[in-house]
Amino acid sequence: MKNDIQRILIDENQIQRRVRELAEQLVAEYAGKTPTVVCILKGSVMFYTDLLRHMQIPLALDFMSVSSYRSGTVGGAIHIRQELTTDLAGRDVLIVEDIMDSGRTLNLLKPLLLKRGAKSVKIVTLLDKPSRRDPDVSLVPDYVGFPIEDEFVVGYGLDFAERYRNLPYIGVLKPEIYASV
Ligand code: IMP
Ligand code: MG
Repeated sequence: MKNDIQRILIDENQIQRRVRELAEQLVAEYAGKTPTVVCILKGSVMFYTDLLRHMQIPLALDFMSVSSYRSGTVGGAIHIRQELTTDLAGRDVLIVEDIMDSGRTLNLLKPLLLKRGAKSVKIVTLLDKPSRRDPDVSLVPDYVGFPIEDEFVVGYGLDFAERYRNLPYIGVLKPEIYASV
């Protein structure tokens, strides 16, 4: 698996240091509240569990899996592959995402959760590719771990064809790996 990686973009220490900083900011943000922290499966699992280990405040966990697709000329739609199991009405919600790319998924998800009665919805994303943003998306993430260039990355939850999620760092794949699929 390691042999498929061209170079490490963000190593384990860098990730862990940044995750701890983000957790500190989030603890301040949610002081006196009991947020529901929503993990967007599957890419966010590593980030989510590391982040929560450093957020020692009362909170609830929930999980969902979503994807977005373009539908004709209207902006697009969200597909819920796996639904939450708790009621978000009146809750302060923190969405934990692995990477914001076009931004279409979160741009559809945030209003959906607000429509379900969430009191507030904030977003923390480990990675952000601002240069890839869909011009129709105005949503800005509240917390970003690392802004990155327009490169396809894997590891620490992120996959290529469901592989590499279990790498402990974030790396760039060798181009021949794409070519072989
Ligand atoms: P978007 O922001 O709606 O375009 O979707 C973001 C999703 O695309 C992420 O949650 C990832 O699943 C996937 N994605 C985008 N860029 C990458 C990447 O570099 N590596 C792995 N997955 C990616
Ligand atoms: Mg994803």
